Amino acid sequence: MKNRISKIIKADGKTVMLAVDHGYFLGPTTGLEKPWKTIEPLVPYADCLMLTRGILRNCIPPETDIPIVLRVSGGTSIVGPELLHEGIITSIEDAIRLNVSGLAFSILVGAEYERDTILAFSEICDFGQDYGIPVLAVTAVGREMVRDAKYLSLASRIAAEIGAHMVKTYYCDEFEKVIEGCPVPVVIAGGKKIPEKDALQMAYNAIQKGAVGVDMGRNIFQSSNPVAMIKAVRAVVHENASPEEAYEIFRQEGGE
Ligand code: R5P
Repeated sequence: MKNRISKIIKADGKTVMLAVDHGYFLGPTTGLEKPWKTIEPLVPYADCLMLTRGILRNCIPPETDIPIVLRVSGGTSIVGPELLHEGIITSIEDAIRLNVSGLAFSILVGAEYERDTILAFSEICDFGQDYGIPVLAVTAVGREMVRDAKYLSLASRIAAEIGAHMVKTYYCDEFEKVIEGCPVPVVIAGGKKIPEKDALQMAYNAIQKGAVGVDMGRNIFQSSNPVAMIKAVRAVVHENASPEEAYEIFRQEGGE
């Protein structure tokens, strides 16, 4: 377990996870139409990839030397009636066969079906425990829910109590409260694409308030220059760069 966690969270206690799992409910989302074309140039700068088994098997050359956090929850889509009412979509045996370093599962606290997602998540935590594979809980947020510190603290704490080894949540005002209440490492998702400067500021704020890193997708692969952007994000996470310094890196590396 510790060996696998050390592949995801690096020796400095930080991580830049590249999230490219969006297709499991969004289909060929902008920037990921041809996954490997997007992912290949980013691999040298990502600490791990978060994706589904379908993309891992079909699009990532097996010799690629990067840890994998495998999304194992799904079952609903952006066009269906119950977005994020997710269950287990991949067996532990297949995750082991794919030699992954971690499992990722979304829970939806506060939704009508929260019990389904939390119980399925607890099964994944048991599987992970049996085989020494850490589990990243994703605190999904429904369209009608508020992403504030009260809600995200609650969801993150519940995830840790059930057995998560790491939690992925959203950045919010008073983010330090989310960190204080969560006894396992926390990373932030990037969310919808925003200007590069703002995404770097958000990553910086999250790190300053105690996040161990980011699990960022669209704000990297939908950037006008994804390689420049991931280098800038790395500087914030691993080198304590200020948002201004990081934006300068983005510009120097060819970003607008
Ligand atoms: C959503 O749960 C997906 O798993 C994404 O991996 C996650 O939202 C992070 O990607 P983004 O930074 O694009 O929000």
